[in-house]
Amino acid sequence: NAANIGVVGLAVMGSNLARNLASREGNTVAVYNRSRAKTDELVAEHPEAGFVPAFSYEEFAASLQKPRTAIIMVKAGGPTDAVIDSLLEVFEPGDIIVDGGNALFTDTIRREKAVRETGVNFVGMGVSGGEEGALLGPSLMPGGSDESWVTLGPILRSIAAVAEGEPCVTHVGHDGAGHFVKMVHNGIEYADMQLIAEAYDLIRRGTGKSPAEIAEVFAEWNRGELESYLIEITAEVLRQVDGETGKPLVDVILDQAGAKGTGAWTVQTALSLGVPVSGIAEATFARSLSSHPEQREISRDLPGPNEGFTADDADAFIEQVRLALYASKIVAYSQGFDEIRAGAAEYGWNIDLGKIAAIWRGGCIIRARFLNRITDAYVETPDLSVLLTAPFFVDVFTRAQDAWREVVATSAKVGIPAPAFSSSLAYYDGLRAERLPAALIQGQRDFFGAHTYKRIDKPGTFHTLWSADRSEIEAEDTH
Ligand code: 6PG
Repeated sequence: NAANIGVVGLAVMGSNLARNLASREGNTVAVYNRSRAKTDELVAEHPEAGFVPAFSYEEFAASLQKPRTAIIMVKAGGPTDAVIDSLLEVFEPGDIIVDGGNALFTDTIRREKAVRETGVNFVGMGVSGGEEGALLGPSLMPGGSDESWVTLGPILRSIAAVAEGEPCVTHVGHDGAGHFVKMVHNGIEYADMQLIAEAYDLIRRGTGKSPAEIAEVFAEWNRGELESYLIEITAEVLRQVDGETGKPLVDVILDQAGAKGTGAWTVQTALSLGVPVSGIAEATFARSLSSHPEQREISRDLPGPNEGFTADDADAFIEQVRLALYASKIVAYSQGFDEIRAGAAEYGWNIDLGKIAAIWRGGCIIRARFLNRITDAYVETPDLSVLLTAPFFVDVFTRAQDAWREVVATSAKVGIPAPAFSSSLAYYDGLRAERLPAALIQGQRDFFGAHTYKRIDKPGTFHTLWSADRSEIEAEDTH
């Protein structure tokens, strides 16, 4: 019983996480993979890790101290269920199974419930930071029981990224809470990436700068308030030259964005919760639009604006785009946190939103300087219902106001698609509006379906007799 932790699934994420675990004082790591070759390879390549290889689930269980703790790093869905079933055959009550894949949180809720009945603990854990994060320090979002956190907490703290002295891990909440938060993290990731892509596109088409020149713009931005991992890697990608053609790599990559589904889950879940994550939705749909070459092909000759577009003052335009990006980015994060808040209420999780922002400061893909401000906002007002109304963000909106509108107006005028920029602004204005045309929607609903409405001047529910004398009656509330 030499190992205190085990890893099942030794593809890149699994083997990097296993190496990370092994590199920390006090850990001995058992490793198992369905095909033996991967295990042999990992053990041979990393003798320094002192791995305890296992070639069957029985061996794997026998090599672990009790309570046995195993992190599964396999494909979400069927493969995860298969590994859980196998582990349950050899694990005992009190042992802990951690799923570190990108599982759908409702699957995690289902699995946690089923596994708990056997007495084994099941923890769905969000892991962010890609391959490098897994190896050097990811941001970790575990759910599951308080009991499993007692054993797991110290181990996870030892391998997580560190931001301002704090390990980037917290017990997010029970059952599926960790995977829910990871899902929203990915939704925000989609929005952030789309906003950056729109900024790049506007600058390129508006100033004629080359990708290498725009790389310098992003590198510069990364030294200021927009400092973040995604801005940093954007500069790297834009700088890259294709070995074969000598062109900028970004010009030879096919412009059809892939997606593994977490962005869509975030939007689907938000739709069921009634949370307007419009920036995340637009980012997800922008990927879908890009991935329909046949539709794009037959649409290429649709009429567009007559004028071409060159910004009068390139530097001023770039600064406007920077401000528009910052404002839109705050909207995307605010929408994401709104979804976490709504999810927590719906599923009964006690999630500390400020803490979530804090564990995203290091290790994960959306790590950014301004996450500190989100933590501050929730520390100051724990029940803040609209994050973007926190004073720090209001200051940004004040500064960015004209630029944001100018950039969205320009994109519409000259025909450069900026769905995430413009939907963020529309959301912002929707929140600000004193009256919304939702009143008209209610009138229409009442007209064709007697769906009733409420009045601003007295309590009760009302219906207008549209097809009779159009007088108003009190009615039963049908929503
Ligand atoms: C992370 C990422 C990661 C995700 C990829 C791919 O936090 O490390 O979110 O978990 O799987 O970014 O996502 P898409 O393939 O959907 O873009």
